[in-house]
Amino acid sequence: MSGRTWGASAPAKVILLGEHAVVFGKPAVSVAIGLRLRCKIRPAAVSSLNGVPLTPQNYSYVSACLARHGAPPTAVLTDSDFPSGSGLGSSAAVTVALLAALNASKGDLKEDVVAREAFEVECEVQGRASPIDTSTCAHGNGILVQRQRGDGFLWEISMDTRRWCVHDLPVPKMTLVIGFTGKSKPTGPLVAKVKRYVDHTTFARDIVSEIGDVTMEGVKQMAQGDLEGLGRTMTKDHKLLAILGVSTRELDKMVSSVLPYSYGAKLTGAGGGGSMVALTDQPQKVMEIIKNKGGQPFAADTGVPGVRIE
Ligand code: PMV
Repeated sequence: MSGRTWGASAPAKVILLGEHAVVFGKPAVSVAIGLRLRCKIRPAAVSSLNGVPLTPQNYSYVSACLARHGAPPTAVLTDSDFPSGSGLGSSAAVTVALLAALNASKGDLKEDVVAREAFEVECEVQGRASPIDTSTCAHGNGILVQRQRGDGFLWEISMDTRRWCVHDLPVPKMTLVIGFTGKSKPTGPLVAKVKRYVDHTTFARDIVSEIGDVTMEGVKQMAQGDLEGLGRTMTKDHKLLAILGVSTRELDKMVSSVLPYSYGAKLTGAGGGGSMVALTDQPQKVMEIIKNKGGQPFAADTGVPGVRIE
């Protein structure tokens, strides 16, 4: 690390379609949004995150990144435009930005190397994961993860019987509004809860397959610039995620209240709290409704770059 400070930033992400099902190898679509997390590293007497020394009990993503790189004691400083645990990929953004800074300090930064390493760190810390979050934070713009290689292929990874091919996905011009419930839930336990459900019932397995089908419908609609269709597909996906047991009363309420002013809306990310996203052409109205329902609204720009050295 040679005594100096290194820094990188990574964007937040919004999963438009396919969360949870993607952990079982189904397709998912995600976009990077114009909120960023910045990370700086410098050599120190003990490793810490924002001044708090690392222990085996805290900040497991940060510890896992430092261990992976065999880093000497390091002070890690982060500053973020978006809340952690909000379903917007804060753990993926920290992991990607920190790994980018560590790679840069060794004189080498390749997006796909960072994306792959970040996915491996997420799996190690979370137990189960898919590469959708980390690859979106690393590559930016739009990402499609699916089993087969297609247009815009970037890289692939396999795990047991699952295979994910990561693709760059062109994103039509669209306006997204996010509503954060203010409640954070860690991703790992929600992913584990869905796995138990899927392991025990064919009904849950069918729902996961249906989410996969709905996601591919949305991919076609995106390619055609059919925002009305994409919105309907997002709302359908929300209903399926609710059946899987990852929605909450607040998320359902926020989604149904914005629907009269949106093409569609759904929870985004792991659920259990976190955030919802609406595809709309009336962003001000949707933000007002989210606020009235007790949520924290954000307007989200798309078409933003992935990880960057700062
Ligand atoms: O809530 P987030 O940002 O951690 O998103 C999790 C997305 C899942 O599909 C639930 C898990 C994964 O690794 O894909």
